Amino acid sequence: MANIFDDLEVGKSVFKDKQPLDHRFLPENLPHRKEQITQIAKYWIEALNNVTPSDITIYGKTGTGKTAAAKFAREQLNEAASNKNVFIKVEYIRCTDYTTEYQVIAQLCQKLGRNVPHRGWTKGEVINTFRDIFRRNAYGKKLILIVILDEIDILLSKDGDGILYTLTRTDNVSILSISNYVEFKQFITPRVMSSLRDKEIVFPPYGADQLADILSERASLSFKEDTIESDVIPLCSAMAAKEEGDARYALDLLRTAGEIADEEESDKIIGDYVRRAKDRIEHNKITDVILTLPTQQQRVLDAILRLTQNNEEITSGKLYDTYKEVSKGDSVTYRRIFDFINELEMLGIISTNTISRGRGKGRTNIITLQCDTDLLEKTLYSI
Ligand SMILES: Nc1ncnc2c1ncn2[C@@H]1O[C@H](COP(=O)(O)OP(=O)(O)OP(=O)(O)O)[C@@H](O)[C@H]1O
Ligand SMILES: [Mg+2]
Repeated sequence: MANIFDDLEVGKSVFKDKQPLDHRFLPENLPHRKEQITQIAKYWIEALNNVTPSDITIYGKTGTGKTAAAKFAREQLNEAASNKNVFIKVEYIRCTDYTTEYQVIAQLCQKLGRNVPHRGWTKGEVINTFRDIFRRNAYGKKLILIVILDEIDILLSKDGDGILYTLTRTDNVSILSISNYVEFKQFITPRVMSSLRDKEIVFPPYGADQLADILSERASLSFKEDTIESDVIPLCSAMAAKEEGDARYALDLLRTAGEIADEEESDKIIGDYVRRAKDRIEHNKITDVILTLPTQQQRVLDAILRLTQNNEEITSGKLYDTYKEVSKGDSVTYRRIFDFINELEMLGIISTNTISRGRGKGRTNIITLQCDTDLLEKTLYSI
C-alpha cells in the first residue's frame, strides 16, 4: 500500500519552505536593526576583554524585533568568543515560561550544569548554588554570564524585583532585559534601581517601507519564484504599519495569504488574499480570546450577544437580568459583573459609553459589542 502521506503531499503549493515565515525563525540578516544590534555589541564587547558588561534594557512595542535582535547578538557574541580565550555564556530566559525568581535561577543553574530541582529547595539554597558557579568553575577561567530576560514585565509584576536584586549582586553577571512597556521600571524598588545601572536601547516601530524590506527577504526564502503579485508585499506592509509597525503581524499576513493561495489552488498570491488573510487573523485572535475566558465571563458575553441580536439597548441592569437567565442559577453578584464588563472592554470585545438620560434621571452605561455577532455566536456555541 502506498504511504498515506504521499497522496497528501502531491497538492501543489506556492511555498518552497514555510519555516522562514514562522515567528521563531531567526534570519541571518535583520534589516533596519543594525544600529540597535551594534549598540548591544558595543556594550557586550567588554566581555571579550574579560570585563562584565553593563546591564542593558531594550524597550519597544510588539513585533519591533527585540527578541530577534537579542538572539542575533547572542549568536554573534558566541561566535566571537569561541575565537578568543574567554569563557562567556549568554543564556536566554523567556519570563512567560519562568515566572518566579526561583524558577529563573534554577533554570540558569541547570543550563550551567548544576542539578537544581525546579521546586523544593529554599530560594537561598538555589541562589547559593548559582553564586557558587562563579566561585569555582571547571575550566579554571572566570565565567562571564549574560542573562537575557525577555518579557521581564511579566516576571516583575508577578514576583517582584528579587530576581534583579540577586542577579545584579552576583559578580560577573550582566542582564539584558526586554520589555514592551517603558513604565516597567515602576516595578523596581529604589534599592534595586541603584545597582541596576542599565543602558537603554529603544526599538522604534517599523514604517511600511522597512516592513517591505523585511518581508521581501523572508518571502524569497519561503515562496517559489514568481508566485507573488507585485502589490502583495506593499499591502501586507501597509496593513502592518498601521498596526504599530508590527513585523510579526506582517509575516502572519504574508504566510496566511500564501495558505489561502494554496487552498484556492492558485499559482499566485494576489492582493485579495492578503485582505482575506487580515479577516482570518482577526477572527482567530478574537476566537482565541473568547475560548480562554472563564465560564462566567463567557456567559456575560453570551448575554450581551442575545441582547444585541434582539436589538436591545444594553444597560448593566438589563445585562445582569439576561446573564442570570443564561447562567440558570449559577451566577455571580451584580458587582462582579462590572469587573467582567471592564475586562471585556480592555480586551476590545465590547465598548461602553456613558449617556445622560436627561435632567434628574442620572447617567447610564450602554454596552456595545465590538466584534462580529456571527463569529461570536459560532465561537460561544462551539464550547
Ligand atoms: N529587522 C527584522 N528583520 C527580519 N525579521 C524581523 C525583523 N524584526 C522583526 N522580525 C521578525 O518579526 C517577528 C517578530 O519579531 P520579534 O519576535 O523579535 O519582536 P518583539 O519585539 O520581540 O515582539 P514582542 O514584544 O511581541 O515579543 C519575528 O519573526 C522576527 O524574526
Ligand atoms: Mg519578543
